[in-house]
Amino acid sequence: MKHLMTAVVTLAASVLGNLASGQDVGLPAPMDDKYCMTCHGAVGQGNVGVQAPRIAGMESWYLKRQLENFRAGIRGTHPDDEQGLAMQPMAARLTDQSIGDLIEWVGSFDYIPTTATIEGDASRGRQAYTRCASCHGDQGQGNETFGAPALAGQNDWYLVTQLRNFKAGYRGNSPNDQYGAMMVSMANSLTNDQAILNVVSYINTLGR
Ligand code: HEC
Ligand code: HEC
Repeated sequence: MKHLMTAVVTLAASVLGNLASGQDVGLPAPMDDKYCMTCHGAVGQGNVGVQAPRIAGMESWYLKRQLENFRAGIRGTHPDDEQGLAMQPMAARLTDQSIGDLIEWVGSFDYIPTTATIEGDASRGRQAYTRCASCHGDQGQGNETFGAPALAGQNDWYLVTQLRNFKAGYRGNSPNDQYGAMMVSMANSLTNDQAILNVVSYINTLGR
């Protein structure tokens, strides 16, 4: 583990501390599982400072799977997956009932477009994206049949981290992660970091 505690690790520790002491975690919620915005932003728009992605506008089936996977330790348990390790304990305390409530609650947020923060060669990225389109859709709109989430409109810095994490084996490597496993070979097809930046630059051009 790294010596320097990152912002999200520090914040995760403080959220857990507040939850444990029964303290208000700063959200006017009838239900105590709604501490999500502490990291994911007041309107679910994502927060680059703690590397927590946009959840507003996320497909309910994808949101459900990720919360269940984090809860089961299928995601967010690799020792080098810093951001995943911060999220995993947040999901670990959820029940099926509270996951259902969260899906309804998050589903009520308005979709907010994100702004581009990375630079890459979008025209090269477009070529690489032809491989991705078969599952994620030619507009990055996602495809429930294949279990592939929307990529258009997600924070670009988060997409970059996930592609790096799939490649490094931090995500998609658990024996029970059948959907994540589909992504590992796809991420490996992006041969270097520049290729990752290029494809995400192209995704930034796709509409929602
Ligand atoms: C301590 C900060 C923190 C809190 C609190 C938190 N999250 Fe997260 N969450 C993160 C981070 C960081 C990531 C990115 C993990 C990664 O890089 O794999 C994440 C990832 C996610 C993802 C995966 C998104 C995707 O596109 O795959 C979902 C879904 C999610 N969080 C939902 C929630 C919900 C719902 C709550 C409230 C119950 C919550 N989070 C509370 C920090 C937090
Ligand atoms: C065979 C189908 C398939 C192909 C092709 C594919 N993906 Fe995926 N992708 C998936 C699935 C399924 C997931 C969800 C994994 C999970 O549930 O953890 C995913 C997840 C992702 C994520 C994480 C999104 C998030 O919100 O956390 C990114 C980023 C991504 N894919 C990018 C790409 C890129 C870029 C390409 C092309 C190089 C690509 N994918 C090709 C099936 C595919």
